[in-house]
Amino acid sequence: MSGKSSNSELEEREFKFTDKDFDLLKRIVGEHTGIVLTEAKRNMVYGRLARRLRVLKLSSFADYIALLEGDNDEELVNFINSVTTNLTAFFRENHHFEHLKNHVFPTLLEKNQVSRRIRIWSAGCSTGEEPYSLSITVNDFFADYPGWDVKILATDIDTNVLEKAASGIYTEERIEGLDPALIKQWFVKGKGEKSGMVKVRSELQKLVSFKQLNLLQEWPMKGQFDVLFCRNVVIYFDKPTKIKLFDRYADTLVSKGNMFIGHSETLFQISDRFSSLGGTIYQKKT
Ligand SMILES: C[S@@+](CC[C@H](N)C(=O)[O-])C[C@H]1O[C@@H](n2cnc3c(N)ncnc32)[C@H](O)[C@@H]1O
Repeated sequence: MSGKSSNSELEEREFKFTDKDFDLLKRIVGEHTGIVLTEAKRNMVYGRLARRLRVLKLSSFADYIALLEGDNDEELVNFINSVTTNLTAFFRENHHFEHLKNHVFPTLLEKNQVSRRIRIWSAGCSTGEEPYSLSITVNDFFADYPGWDVKILATDIDTNVLEKAASGIYTEERIEGLDPALIKQWFVKGKGEKSGMVKVRSELQKLVSFKQLNLLQEWPMKGQFDVLFCRNVVIYFDKPTKIKLFDRYADTLVSKGNMFIGHSETLFQISDRFSSLGGTIYQKKT
């Protein structure tokens, strides 16, 4: 869409949304989240932020931008929550979970036999489907190996998705297509006014800690991770941000630790600290 046609189209809308407004918002988003808003996101940005203008009873995007630039921390959180893309699913790219079960966990049984401790990080966990899929995989596998201390840290920048994730409550459509035996074992169906909803079993929640974390800022975690899921998060970041981030990911993984990225992502010209195992699964080199 050209700037001109988008402008004439958007000027007929409730709020004036100029190229300058969009450029300033792009810069603020980039600085705070690393996300690069492309031209294709212009309408999405307008739609989501127009809601914020209405809530705040502002009459222009210029006023909204002034509010953000005035270091209004509360609105900055709402702003970031409005522009993130949170698409996710239970057992998305199921081969990653199969690889964990068939290769990574059996290897860790040997490698970590003294500590009997395994740490997993779901970085950019969105509404929680990814860490709960990890928790199901861990619970299933380690049922035969009692005494192992396995924990999943699940982080995201977006406080709204984290709240939903921590509740563990989903609509039934979210688990459609999953194996019925798995659903029976790990989800509780709502009754009465909760019908149409499901909740993950508390055993799944016990292994997962949800925390807000901006990947561009300091990471407070002290120990290293054996496994890192960082899928479909950096696709929205520019190349220099990706290069820095994957270097930090490598530092946070143990030697030979495993990293899983999204199916459309690549480390080509981004990082040489990992070996590819195929299927967007990587292993830290040393
Ligand atoms: C498309 S979802 C991916 C969810 C899940 N990993 C998956 O693959 O199904 C991307 C998530 O990254 C989060 N995100 C974007 N920028 C971030 C940042 N700078 N720090 C932490 N999380 C971020 C978004 O809020 C969103 O929930």
